[in-house]
Amino acid sequence: MARTLNVGMIGYKFMGRAHSNAWLKVDKFFDLKARPVMKVICGRDKSSVASACIRWGWDQFVTDWRDVVNDPTIHIIDINTPNDSHAEIAIAAAKAGKAILCEKPLALDVKQAQAMVAAVKKAGVVNMVCHNYRRIPALVLAKRMIEGGDLGTLYHYRARYAQDWIVDPNFPLGWRLQGKFAGSGALGDIGAHIIDLGRYLIGEFTEVCGQMETFIKERPLPGDSNKKGKVTVDDAVTFIGRFQNGALANLEATRFALGRKNGIQLEINGSKGSLVFDFEDMNRLKYYNGADFADRRGFRDILVTENQHTYAANWWPPGHILGYEHTFVHTVADFLNAVADKRSVPPTFEDGLANQIVMAAVEKSAKTKKWVKV
Ligand SMILES: NC(=O)c1ccc[n+]([C@@H]2O[C@H](COP(=O)([O-])OP(=O)(O)OC[C@H]3O[C@@H](n4cnc5c(N)ncnc54)[C@H](O)[C@@H]3O)[C@@H](O)[C@H]2O)c1
Repeated sequence: MARTLNVGMIGYKFMGRAHSNAWLKVDKFFDLKARPVMKVICGRDKSSVASACIRWGWDQFVTDWRDVVNDPTIHIIDINTPNDSHAEIAIAAAKAGKAILCEKPLALDVKQAQAMVAAVKKAGVVNMVCHNYRRIPALVLAKRMIEGGDLGTLYHYRARYAQDWIVDPNFPLGWRLQGKFAGSGALGDIGAHIIDLGRYLIGEFTEVCGQMETFIKERPLPGDSNKKGKVTVDDAVTFIGRFQNGALANLEATRFALGRKNGIQLEINGSKGSLVFDFEDMNRLKYYNGADFADRRGFRDILVTENQHTYAANWWPPGHILGYEHTFVHTVADFLNAVADKRSVPPTFEDGLANQIVMAAVEKSAKTKKWVKV
């Protein structure tokens, strides 16, 4: 019988729902080294957190995150709050000896991320950043193919993360549009994911050259639509760059691409072949093999649901497709095993810091209009 680990989760909205669902499902579908117990959920609004607690089957709720972090019965702290509170909560959790799963981006800036890495290292606690897209079976296959040499020498990593939810200038000035809560805009919110996928699939960035834009400079305040406040983050960012292995990078993150809801499109080209991935068709990986007979060449469409594919066998028979929520179940499955083994698995806080360093270089480049070393 696997041991149990008590989970304390902070934040109950978008990611709180995605993570609650993952904690709830994970041991039903995966044979784990340790099973989670959904012990306590935390949010500041008492009635909302109480209803989230009942809906998702958490044992109890609290309204101050310190009560979760200081609870000696809790083994895992799961941080789903806006970016400005990640560092304070994670550092306190590390000091209390808890394993930590933290949402991305790891922190507001490089300095905070460094302090978080130092804290988890000093405490020797298992840590992970929730870059859930790494755990899509199609992208696990892409990594296996790249590492196995199927693409040969890597030439290009093209990645676009496009949404459209703030095109309306009357969309209110929520926390994601304010630098003091978010750190950055499209860059940290969604660009961080395709930077992480670049590091996962291709390697380390060495230099970048970027541009950032805030199209709508002022927006109505959330509590009072007659008043406006300043938008202090980027609405969109594009950058080119280089990887250590010589491949070229071309990335774009925007929340101003009308019609694009959660579009993540990747294309990787190498000397022997190419891969194409589109999150809105996430069960498929397209593969072009340059060694095919000339009259048969074309992109092959791989439905990544066979039992051989990582995570796929834990779910349904081939062709019974997976969705967004499964990526979080895969993330917590690997995290629980890591906690049981007392050994972190990527992406760790060090990966979160490396990501933050790339983002800071992009910001500096956009500001100075120059190439910046990472
Ligand atoms: N992995 C992904 O794909 C993904 C997707 C969306 C958001 N995120 C990240 O998840 C985090 C949360 O984003 P979200 O979309 O769920 O935001 P949200 O606004 O929907 O929810 C934030 C939650 O944090 C709670 N909260 C805020 N400050 C708190 C505090 N001091 N103490 C306790 N609770 C507090 C709020 O009450 C709310 O429940 C962010 O870091 C975001 O970047 C990741």
